[in-house]
Amino acid sequence: MREVAIIGIGMTQFGELWEKSFRDLVAEAGIKAISDAGIEGEKIDAMYIGGMSTGRFIGQEHVAPLAVEVAGLQDLHIPAVRVEAACASGGVAMHQAYIAVASGMYDFVVVGGAEKMTDVVGGEATNILASAADREWEAFFGATFPGLYALMAKYHMHKYGTTQEQLAMVAVKNHYNGSMNPKAQFKRKITVEDVLKSPMVAEPLHLLDCSPITDGASAVILAPLDKAKEYTDKIVKIKASALACDTLSLHGRKRFDSLPAAVHAGKKAYEMAEIKPEDVDLAEVHDCFTIAEIIAIEDLGFVEKGKGGKATEEGLTSLNGEIPVNTSGGLKSKGHPVGATGIAQINEIVLQLRGEAEQRQIKDAKIGLAHNVGGSGGTAVVHILEVV
Ligand code: COA
Repeated sequence: MREVAIIGIGMTQFGELWEKSFRDLVAEAGIKAISDAGIEGEKIDAMYIGGMSTGRFIGQEHVAPLAVEVAGLQDLHIPAVRVEAACASGGVAMHQAYIAVASGMYDFVVVGGAEKMTDVVGGEATNILASAADREWEAFFGATFPGLYALMAKYHMHKYGTTQEQLAMVAVKNHYNGSMNPKAQFKRKITVEDVLKSPMVAEPLHLLDCSPITDGASAVILAPLDKAKEYTDKIVKIKASALACDTLSLHGRKRFDSLPAAVHAGKKAYEMAEIKPEDVDLAEVHDCFTIAEIIAIEDLGFVEKGKGGKATEEGLTSLNGEIPVNTSGGLKSKGHPVGATGIAQINEIVLQLRGEAEQRQIKDAKIGLAHNVGGSGGTAVVHILEVV
């Protein structure tokens, strides 16, 4: 296996982008990544595009050739593949592209992710997202994602004494971080009181405990490490890429206080990178709901199981904490265009490792981790990146 580096990143604004089409978003993110890398389009060998449900959100399937076309690479007939893994589509696209470059099959690969979710009304978006749960045994009975994560939250609160305030503190921290991210959907700071007073979505999760419905796209360019030097002097190496799966349904799991696929992917990634959780300088984790971040920091070994709420309250995961989590604002504040999220997480880690995260920059960041989850944990993918 060859070593693989990220030589370019690009991302659109995240938010409710009615003036931009899906095609515009894909083109903008891809062009930004290609120009950031300073690579000519003709050098691109392949594309991997994460998209969860473009068919139902905008009526457009077969988005891989669409990406080739908007990049103007149709005459080169390069291979392009769409990857679907619910909210982990971006992260899994990254994993597939990593394998392709590491194996020696391709040299320069564009990995993108895009979703345009706000063209449908709210209830329909919830229904489309619920297709990433078990339709027959969960969604059909009304157990949509806010409901499934609410069950996990209730269990965590019951078992470990995690409080509603501690859940809210995840949202407060991520909105604070997002206030410094020009690309974030919500740049307003909020308080614990704001979260607790916001409408109840699925008890105990309030509106401000939830990630929003978002439009956006993101892209990165991968290259073999030995060729990366020709394009950039700020080389970020992929130290690990690990993917794990579990039951599709939440009720099929052996435990509800953890996402076992995420634990497994995390362990595999630490082994591959030959590091321990304490070596990580910052992490972007999949905070689709506030409880998801608390479970994630436990599953990834940053804190002991059951201590995620307390650790958040004590500031361990804040910008100046021991392990800053979701410096971008996370899914909560930056937004969650499902297919794009995994790649947007990688964008943030690369910005941080290159020292380009401006006001939210973590000092001397060398190693960053991205944790991307599909559904209620049926898929989990963990990447560990290091600045060379
Ligand atoms: N965080 C912060 N503010 C939010 C928000 C969120 N998650 N969702 C909506 N808002 C704001 C809107 O901007 C709007 O503000 P305004 O009145 O100032 O314009 C207001 O709240 C109402 O927005 P609306 O779109 O009517 O909310 P909604 O009730 O239709 O949807 C949720 C809110 C939480 C139900 C929806 O965002 C949701 O379903 N989120 C979860 C998405 C999900 O499941 N993703 C997959 C995870 S696995």
